[in-house]
Amino acid sequence: MGLVFRLVSRPLLALQDSEKAHARAILGLKLMSSNPLTRAPLRLLYTPKTLPVQRFGMTYRNPFGLAAGMDKRAEALRGWETLGLGFIEIGGVTAEEQTGNPKPRMFRSGTSKALVNRMGFNNPGSVKIAKQLESHFSRIGSPNVPLWANLGKSKVTPLSEAPADYAATMERLWAFCDVFVINVSSPNTPNLRELQHDEALSDIVNACTLVNNSQSKLHGVKKKPLLVKIAPDLSDEQLVAVVKTARESGCDGIIATNTTIERPEPSSAKEQRVFSESGGMSGVPVTTRSTAMIHRIYQLTNGDWPIIGVGGISNAEDAWDKIGAGACLLQAYSGFVFEGAGLTKSIVNGLHKKLKQSSFATFDEAIGFAHRDSPRVDE
Ligand SMILES: Cc1cc2nc3c(=O)[nH]c(=O)nc-3n(C[C@H](O)[C@H](O)[C@H](O)COP(=O)(O)O)c2cc1C
Repeated sequence: MGLVFRLVSRPLLALQDSEKAHARAILGLKLMSSNPLTRAPLRLLYTPKTLPVQRFGMTYRNPFGLAAGMDKRAEALRGWETLGLGFIEIGGVTAEEQTGNPKPRMFRSGTSKALVNRMGFNNPGSVKIAKQLESHFSRIGSPNVPLWANLGKSKVTPLSEAPADYAATMERLWAFCDVFVINVSSPNTPNLRELQHDEALSDIVNACTLVNNSQSKLHGVKKKPLLVKIAPDLSDEQLVAVVKTARESGCDGIIATNTTIERPEPSSAKEQRVFSESGGMSGVPVTTRSTAMIHRIYQLTNGDWPIIGVGGISNAEDAWDKIGAGACLLQAYSGFVFEGAGLTKSIVNGLHKKLKQSSFATFDEAIGFAHRDSPRVDE
């Protein structure tokens, strides 16, 4: 199937507008996974080995999840499960419905396996997403993997009112999702990244924590983990401050990283066209920077604060590097665009193999191995 994707699907997708190709792929996945006759072969083809990880009070069947932005409207939950993902992050969801930036707003460079997007949090808003989840849960049941929600700020909301905006979305989605991610790092909502700093960030975390406390009491269940997602463009000084603020205000972990506003040197005129589009770049060019940030956060926190690694993961090698740097869970978006639906299986099975070849007894033992003295993989 990997070969079919490379020879047939990828060239066909490459001919289409990026956003239309994305919508078709989500619809195809939704349709194929909703029928038992097509779901069974999908599962047969794509289910990876089990690589269980315990995090945030839950068992993840493997550490590889879907990054935010891919299924903003929570349309293909059963599809992602069927493709073997260990967890699914929906959204970004904003309190208010919004159309996002004018199209075209998603661009693809096949040669550098990079995307540039300036979607601008296009989504139906928290009320409709909550309804959509309610309907999914009552018709199909809750997903059999942890469901995360990515919270963004509505464009119409001024920065000073951001805490209430994030908190409103969290409240509406609370009953349906297992983990909440405060996204203050998208480059496509004006000034959003200013919310990564000091008081602005702690105010948002505090507002979300109040919702978390009250919802947990109301439903008689434990509080849900709250994470913050950061940009790869922070300076070291800014990173140190964000980590300190997020930890002190009670965040349970961090996602590193979102897309970058930096650009590599283009190697062709076509690449130059894609790279010169404004927005955030994801995919292979962000891999090294995102891994370096994970490494630094692990150092700053002595490895005792959960780090979720995302940015340019296209194969098991990239995934293993991020685990070595200190990530305990991983996610991808662009890898699915360039490598296809078999990405999860190839990464999870590849990690399984790496773990077997290493001297680590468990997955947990491998986390942060690059910070320890001796190389631990026998290859
Ligand atoms: C089209 C697109 C939309 C995205 N939307 C969101 C979003 O709404 N919220 C968010 O936190 N990250 C969003 N991201 C960032 C991804 O979740 C991820 O952090 C980033 O793309 C790096 O990972 P990758 O190289 O595997 O794509 C988006 C990325 C892309 C390409």
